[in-house]
This record gives sequence, C-alpha cells and structure tokens, in this order.
Amino acid sequence: MLYDFLGVNEKGNLTISGSDAVHLAKKYGTPLYVMSEDYIRGACREFHKSIDKYYGGNGMVLFASKAFSCKEIYRIMMQENCGVDVVSGGELYTALSVGFPTENIVFHGNNKSQDELKMAVDNNVGRVIVDGLSELDMLDAIAEKANKTVSVMLRIKPGIDAHTHEFIKTGQIDSKFGLALETGEALEGVKKALEYKNINLKGIHCHIGSQIFGTEPFESAADVMYTFLAKVKEETGFCIEEINLGGGFGIRYTELDSPVSYDMYMSKVAEVMQRKSKELGIPMPKIYIEPGRAIVGPAGVTLYTVGAIKAIPNIRTYVSIDGGMSDNPRYALYQSDYEACIANKAAKPRKFLATIAGKCCESGDLIQEDTFIQKPKSGDIMAVFSTGAYNYTMASNYNRIPRPATVFVKEGEKSRIVIRRETYEDLVRNDI
Ligand code: LLP
Repeated sequence: MLYDFLGVNEKGNLTISGSDAVHLAKKYGTPLYVMSEDYIRGACREFHKSIDKYYGGNGMVLFASKAFSCKEIYRIMMQENCGVDVVSGGELYTALSVGFPTENIVFHGNNKSQDELKMAVDNNVGRVIVDGLSELDMLDAIAEKANKTVSVMLRIKPGIDAHTHEFIKTGQIDSKFGLALETGEALEGVKKALEYKNINLKGIHCHIGSQIFGTEPFESAADVMYTFLAKVKEETGFCIEEINLGGGFGIRYTELDSPVSYDMYMSKVAEVMQRKSKELGIPMPKIYIEPGRAIVGPAGVTLYTVGAIKAIPNIRTYVSIDGGMSDNPRYALYQSDYEACIANKAAKPRKFLATIAGKCCESGDLIQEDTFIQKPKSGDIMAVFSTGAYNYTMASNYNRIPRPATVFVKEGEKSRIVIRRETYEDLVRNDI
C-alpha cells in the first residue's frame, strides 16, 4: 500500500483510516472522494515540527488551498495552526465563511481584480502577494481609499527550472507569474513598494513549481532569494523581513515515486539560509512555506463503481468507471500517474492490465493507461489513490455530471460527509 493509513480488512476489502471502502461506497454512493483526516492533520504537524526544528519556530505553514478548498478544510487548518494561501475571491470567501483569522491568510493571483483586492483590503488579509507592478498601483489606491496600510510580499521569478511538468512549473523566466530578477523589474517593484504610502513591504515570495522531488531546486531558490534580499539592502538600505518559498513538495502517486521527507527538505533549505545569513550579515528572515499537494494529496482516495468492460484483443482492455475527467482531469491534462485497485478484492494480487476509462464523451477521458489492478467485473468498487489534491478543486460539470461528495474518515471514528454530492437540481440552479 502506498500509505500507512491504507489497509485491507478481514473481508479482503480496502480500508482507509480504518473505514471499509466498500461500505463507504454503499453508504454514500459513487463516485466518492474519501479523505483521511488523520493524514491531513499529520502532514500539517510534520511541517510545523520542521519549522520549529530548523527555524526555531520563526516561520509559518500556509496551506495552499487551491489544492483542496471547502469549509471543512479551512476549519481543520485553523485547528492545526496553519495559515492559508488563497488565490481568488471565491477561496477567500470560503475561508471567511468559517471565520478563518484573516491575519493568517495570504492572497495570491497573477491577475487579481479590483473587487478581489478590495475584498482583501476590507477584510484585512495578512499579506497580499503582489504579482506585478500594475498591481502595486491598484492596491495602493484601494488601500488609500479605505484609509488602511496593506502588508505585502512581492512575488519574484527566481529563474529556476524545476524539471516538472511544463504546465506546473512557474519559477522560470518565461512565466506569467511574478516579477523578473534579471531585468531589474523585481528591484523596481521593491523601490515602488517602499515609496507607496499605503503599502508596507514585508517580504518576497517565490514558487518554483509543483511535484518536485529533489531538494536542489528549493536550495537554489533560497539562495537566489537571499541574494536578492542582500541586493535590496545594499541599494535601498531596507531590510526585508520575510521570505516565502512557496510549495511544490512532491508526493507519492505510485510505488515508483520517492519524494524526500519534508524534514530533509527543511533542513537543506535551512542550511542555505543560515549560510547566506552569515555570509551576507543579514539576520534570518521569517520563513513561510505553502504546501498544498503534500498536505492533502496522499490523503485522498476516489471510489468508483466499475461498469462496462471492453477487451480489444491484442490492444487493451478498457475498464469503465462511473466518473472520470469530470472528477479527476489530471491524467487528461498532465498524463499524471495513478495507482488503482479493486477495493472489494484488495487482498488479491494486481495482475490484470487495464486502461481505466471515464464516462465522458471524450476519448482522452482516462484515469490511467495500462495499469495493473485485480481482475475486475461490473459492479466492483474501484479505488484510485493519491487523489486528494487538485481533483475536487479542478472537477467540472462536463457532460452535466454532478460533482461527487467528499467524505472524511478518521481512525476510530465514524465517517462524515464534508461536501454534499451535487444534484441535478444544482446543475440547473443558475440556468434561466
Ligand atoms: N504556492 C503557490 C504560489 C502556487 O502557485 C502553488 C501551486 C502552491 C503554493 C502549491 O503547490 P503544491 O504544494 O500543491 O505543489 N493543478 C496542478 C497543480 C498546479 C499548482 C499551482 N500552484 C496539478 O494538478 O498538479
């Protein structure tokens, strides 16, 4: 099994944090997103532990809620003393709706609207992560009108190519995110920010990409950011107090993935920061990290019911499920790897070569090609692992398929629904 909270019970059924997956599928219907609350809370604590260990607690874990956004996750983040990163008025609204402490919210986005910025200012979010020079103008004007000062971080492109999928790398020079170092744009941003009356420059931010396995790209990013910090001090005399290194820590989607531990990542980055601090004679800044996938990704298992099975001799066998790209578009978008099993045959070996197909009218609607599962038959429950990040949040109503429910499970406790299944009525709610 990919993770400790997965198991097999005496009936030979898959268990998720102690709950029988087949029972969950019966009780709540399929497709169904199941999330291990134990895993989510455990991951938050791991990150906190390493911030304490390597930075003497001078740091903050911000959950990147684009990975999984709903009321309950913001409540859990509150309980786990994490802040959150939001990237839209909608995510901010959801966080505010459960009373998330606004000082622990950072607001991202490469094209924030006037309304979104006003919402951030009106609600006193902790930091606005400013993505470009024009945003600084807009934000200062909005803050002036509201008679407030807004604390900001500037998003920098550190020029690092993190060797991940083309669409999920963001730190290189050709990116729509952030201010470039090479062209002097980032320094100009700092100078502008320092001039504005209603802007309080606190820190700099970078995010180099997602699903990154090695520590080197993060170490390079820390190095580049620290060097910039020193340059800012030299040119302006201003000492930036905070560095936000973004998210991007890789997780295990299949047995072949071997991400480094968060502790290892934190220790390596801390080494760079401490070395640079000594070399440049600049005190250690407060560190922020923004893990999304690493907190919720492994926690998720999607349950489906197997339907049609079509064997195409000498080519492949399509095993169709009652969901697909509408609840998990990641294979269609990025050819992401996943592992799957038949939950009601979990104790048996996986020897059947299958292509798992969704039910959307789209040939590319696949969850995985040529993967081994137990021999399936119609009516079986299929489980796809590591689906907790960017599945529910990227789900759609393509083909007017309602989005599945989300259920949280916890060892020794009853499962509980945290997002209801969409109904057909929900689908026509906004139609005139
Ligand atoms: N911080 C910033 C500024 C980000 O842009 C992101 C992700 C994160 C943090 C969190 O990254 P994580 O730790 O989750 O890798 N839809 C794609 C992922 C897009 C990530 C966008 N930004 C996927 O399904 O893989």
